[in-house]
Amino acid sequence: MNATLAQPGGDAIGVSQQLIDLIIERIQASGPLSFYDYMHTVLYEPQLGYYVNGCRKFGAEGDYITAAELSALFGCCIARHIQGVLAQCQQPVVMELGAGSGILASQILLALEAQQALPHTYYILDVSGELQQRQRDLLAQRCEHLLERVTWLKHLPDTPFEGVIFGNEVIDAMPVHRFGWHENQLIEMGVDYHHDRLVWHALEQPDEDVRQALLDIDPQLRSQWPQGYRSEVRPQMRAWLRSLSACLHKGMMLWIDYGHNQADYYHAQHSDGTLMCYYRHHGHSDPFVYPGLQDITAHVDFTQLAVAAQHADLALLCYTTQAQFLLAADLERFYQAAVAQQPDQAAATALHMRRLIMPDQMGERFKVMVLGKQLECVAAYAAFDQRYRL
Ligand SMILES: C[S@@+](CC[C@H](N)C(=O)[O-])C[C@H]1O[C@@H](n2cnc3c(N)ncnc32)[C@H](O)[C@@H]1O
Repeated sequence: MNATLAQPGGDAIGVSQQLIDLIIERIQASGPLSFYDYMHTVLYEPQLGYYVNGCRKFGAEGDYITAAELSALFGCCIARHIQGVLAQCQQPVVMELGAGSGILASQILLALEAQQALPHTYYILDVSGELQQRQRDLLAQRCEHLLERVTWLKHLPDTPFEGVIFGNEVIDAMPVHRFGWHENQLIEMGVDYHHDRLVWHALEQPDEDVRQALLDIDPQLRSQWPQGYRSEVRPQMRAWLRSLSACLHKGMMLWIDYGHNQADYYHAQHSDGTLMCYYRHHGHSDPFVYPGLQDITAHVDFTQLAVAAQHADLALLCYTTQAQFLLAADLERFYQAAVAQQPDQAAATALHMRRLIMPDQMGERFKVMVLGKQLECVAAYAAFDQRYRL
């Protein structure tokens, strides 16, 4: 156990123990779990998983802060980017995936209202029923008059729509397969239970989708991996994006997340992958600590996302850093307006803006990918576009 982590309270420990018992039961019934199944269970198991068990996740009292939790400037900039697309659509719809606390939805709806650019419908699709309730409560508090436009979905809509699909820090929360590389052989890492502990375990047979996903990685990169190299893949990305694309008749997708192009993601120097765990703002790399009480994430391979877009009939419109994306959306103007409105908060607003754009903070660690379908006219991304890096 990591000695620097704070002790959870009794109820939380109880939830975590139930999850451990469930995992042990599954291992005893069918052998070691794949890491994908483990991550899925500890994050999303009904009633117990991190995203569904009711523990505080976001903000200062939770485990981590997203850009939207940090500052409303973030939502204003997203609204600014999507507004032009909504204007080109019939009965425009916005669909947000993984809305977390709901704060980003409230920022975007209020910013679009201020520009008289509200969508006909704002869908929220989140795998967590518990978070959906929190999102509803937060929107009722912050913009009750706009609630009638918001619909929570249990699955993707059956009828394609025109508009925008987007998510901030959603893909990184999707389970990954963890693999190792030994003597040019793929080893899929699973999870076993030994001597009263959850431990890593090399599975006998790697998953076929994982093997295929690895073949898609540039052989030049693979040839540089040292013995014992470890990393992650999300083979399900292609099918996931294709199903989202099928919902979009015309419009844009926007994905914002921690991540790299493939050359950086699978660089030999990143020899332990990108798996990260967060517990009360403490980042570490042990996914077996406090199952169900800590977040587990892995970076996004944006090259893989771009390839998935090609297979899903989506045009790759832009790939850039969060900093460039926000600055191109008039961040400075929104910042000045915020300071003029609340001068007593000027120092905090400046600090938050810096965190959004500084390279060593969210500015360059987070990337943005814009995808499009059937759009006649798209914003001019050329000045800051970095598709050449994919
Ligand atoms: C890190 S939080 C994102 C917070 C929020 N977007 C923000 O900017 O503050 C991840 C969210 O994604 C949701 N999620 C994870 N996988 C998902 C999926 N496949 N589809 C929809 N939501 C998902 C989680 O329940 C959670 O609400």
